[in-house]
Amino acid sequence: MSSSVHLLTGATSGIGLELAARLLADPACRLVVGARRPEAAVALRALVGPDRLEILPLDLASLASTSAFALSVERHLAGEKLASFAGNAGLQITGPRRLTADGYEETFQANFLGHAVLIERLLPHLAPAAPVVLTASGTHDPADRGARLFGFRGGLFVGADRVARGELDPAASPKQQGMDRYATSKLCAILQVHALARRAATDGPRFIAFDPGLMPGTGLARERSILERWAWSTVLPVLARPMPGASTAPRSATAYAKILTGRVFPRGTGLHVNFTLAETPSSRDSRREDWQDELFRFAERVALER
Ligand SMILES: NC(=O)c1ccc[n+]([C@@H]2O[C@H](COP(=O)([O-])OP(=O)(O)OC[C@H]3O[C@@H](n4cnc5c(N)ncnc54)[C@H](OP(=O)(O)O)[C@@H]3O)[C@@H](O)[C@H]2O)c1
Repeated sequence: MSSSVHLLTGATSGIGLELAARLLADPACRLVVGARRPEAAVALRALVGPDRLEILPLDLASLASTSAFALSVERHLAGEKLASFAGNAGLQITGPRRLTADGYEETFQANFLGHAVLIERLLPHLAPAAPVVLTASGTHDPADRGARLFGFRGGLFVGADRVARGELDPAASPKQQGMDRYATSKLCAILQVHALARRAATDGPRFIAFDPGLMPGTGLARERSILERWAWSTVLPVLARPMPGASTAPRSATAYAKILTGRVFPRGTGLHVNFTLAETPSSRDSRREDWQDELFRFAERVALER
């Protein structure tokens, strides 16, 4: 039986854990996962034996850790090609701005820059036409009514350098600035998907942004207030059900797995796809080629410096 190896980030909880379970349901599938604390990935380890799951340390908010992870993956693959790459890890900070040891705003680095560096490093190890998927979010789009309901107002691309420092709208409240940084990190992910797709060879990897919809109950609200965390995990999963943009982690993971295994969009690249597996337009801003190019050059420079 020929087997395939897929790489995931953010597979210790939420949609990523569900996604790992769906991929591993195929006995021919093996996973390489990057996790901040591999020893704490108990639920992930419970899915399958170590012969089909390699968990390697990865903190996307550290360029040293990201580089070390890329090296470990290269060693682990030993010449084998990756069948897919899912940049799914993400966090939301609603408190004051946090800078990483590398000098970047943490949401930007963990959600976007770390993944961009990893993709750059691992491109030679991807199989032809392998899907490279970044987890996006409707919050990137100022026209997304569901996201607006929760106080998001879309990504604010104010130039790569300012975005990287998290200096978006200093006049807004600290909480709003945190939400803006999250939405902007997702806008950056989509800009990068478009930039990479425009540069890819015709027989090279394919680049897709996946919007999983609103999935209340995951770990994403972990930095919010006690009350917000309580609502996120108890009330919202019920209240959100009839909302058009709402999904669940299991449902969205099923769609995600179909993209990663090429069962849908087997040749598509530069796509923005939602959890119903519909190709949907991303925001007008995300289609600006000048911003795509500026961000691509920024991430490429950071990757080359490592
Ligand atoms: N939930 C929603 O409504 C929603 C909507 C749209 C998009 N999304 C996106 O979906 C993705 C998954 O989120 P989720 O809702 O499933 O939340 P989650 O349960 O909190 O999962 C987030 C994952 O990212 C990992 N992670 C966070 N920071 C990291 C870092 N610095 N380095 C490495 N891994 C890191 C976490 O690992 P640890 O175990 O180390 O914490 C965890 O595995 C995120 O990209 C999120 O932005 C979620």
